[in-house]
Amino acid sequence: MSFAPPPRLLLGSGPSPVPQRVLDALAQPTVGHLDPVFGELMEETAELLRAAFRTDNRATLPLSATGSGGMDALVANFVEPGDRVVVGVNGLFGERLADALRRAGAEVVRVEADWGRALDLADLAAAAEAGADAVCVVHGETSTGVCQPLDGLAERCRAAGALLLVDCVTSLTGQPVLLDEWGVDAAFSGSQKCLNAPPGLAPFTAGERALAKLRGRHTPPRSWFFDLSLVLGYWDGEGGRAYHHTAPVNMIYALAEALRLVAEEGLEARWERHRRAHEALRGALAQLGLERLACDGEELWPLLAVALPDGVDDSGVRAALLSEHGIEISGGLGPLAGRAWRVGVMGEGARPEPQERLVTALAALLRRDPAPALEALEAGWATAPAGASIMR
Ligand SMILES: Cc1ncc(COP(=O)(O)O)c(C=O)c1O
Repeated sequence: MSFAPPPRLLLGSGPSPVPQRVLDALAQPTVGHLDPVFGELMEETAELLRAAFRTDNRATLPLSATGSGGMDALVANFVEPGDRVVVGVNGLFGERLADALRRAGAEVVRVEADWGRALDLADLAAAAEAGADAVCVVHGETSTGVCQPLDGLAERCRAAGALLLVDCVTSLTGQPVLLDEWGVDAAFSGSQKCLNAPPGLAPFTAGERALAKLRGRHTPPRSWFFDLSLVLGYWDGEGGRAYHHTAPVNMIYALAEALRLVAEEGLEARWERHRRAHEALRGALAQLGLERLACDGEELWPLLAVALPDGVDDSGVRAALLSEHGIEISGGLGPLAGRAWRVGVMGEGARPEPQERLVTALAALLRRDPAPALEALEAGWATAPAGASIMR
């Protein structure tokens, strides 16, 4: 083979480590996108995705795009030019949503919080109640490592006549995402985070209220590729599958296998493993002088963002981590550039062994004694589950 990638431990903001079973699935022979055998795999994939999102939404499918395509699809289908749309902005991905909404011709109402803090739910609800067609929020803000609580927001959006649209790219299967229980109308994710598939697919789901908005649009979605009505003609097998675009067949093999791994572990066990992995790593990195940015109760389990102490050479250490130890972590973005590191705790990255490798390598590069950090890591993993509810 002409390209032989070096071994890498992917502990950045994504992509995350892809298990061999998923890579093997990807390498199976390609079949046609309209082959009935492939149709059966599509059915299974959609059903597994419903379980991952905790939804009964019939309109649940992987879009042929990365997470950003999921965002574009959300906006293209459920927002019309002139709609008043509230968007939570407390990091890069909220900014991107705001930008996508502006480009779609929406009247954008920003509700902001500092980068590194969650949004105030009362602010979001009040903005919706002042009149809005939709409220858009990022559940897992990967740029800061903050998880946005959503409790009670949907009821207030609903009463105000607004859809609740959510980015679950980083949180899906790594932290509770309870789509139906929370009353979220539509959401998207990405294949390369906690699902541990390669990048390239955007799990997407839409409920009845969102679909009613789509049916009642004054103008069709401006995007032909992401027009959900057309895409569902292919994905929703009821009347036979109509060709829309040539589905990325092998990527769907890979996603299906990744979702089977989630189902085998059990969703709640997987959330709990991510919580423990996050806490264990947090304790270990604190021993190296790297303190978590997120406040208690606002942390995003799959992504631990830590502040860099003065004097640490951000890009130099990350480059050495990659070239000498084969480990990738991510730097800060926007106002956090040069001031934070973002460490992925995603799927197979949320295990003791990869975390041990990271802690040992970082201790060496920072010229710190690794022992206290490794002890903290071990103690973190040994800690029995707190018993507190992990449902958020
Ligand atoms: C919260 C969030 N939203 C959207 C995206 C965009 O996804 P992608 O890079 O797969 O297009 C990302 C990617 O990191 C993300 O973390």
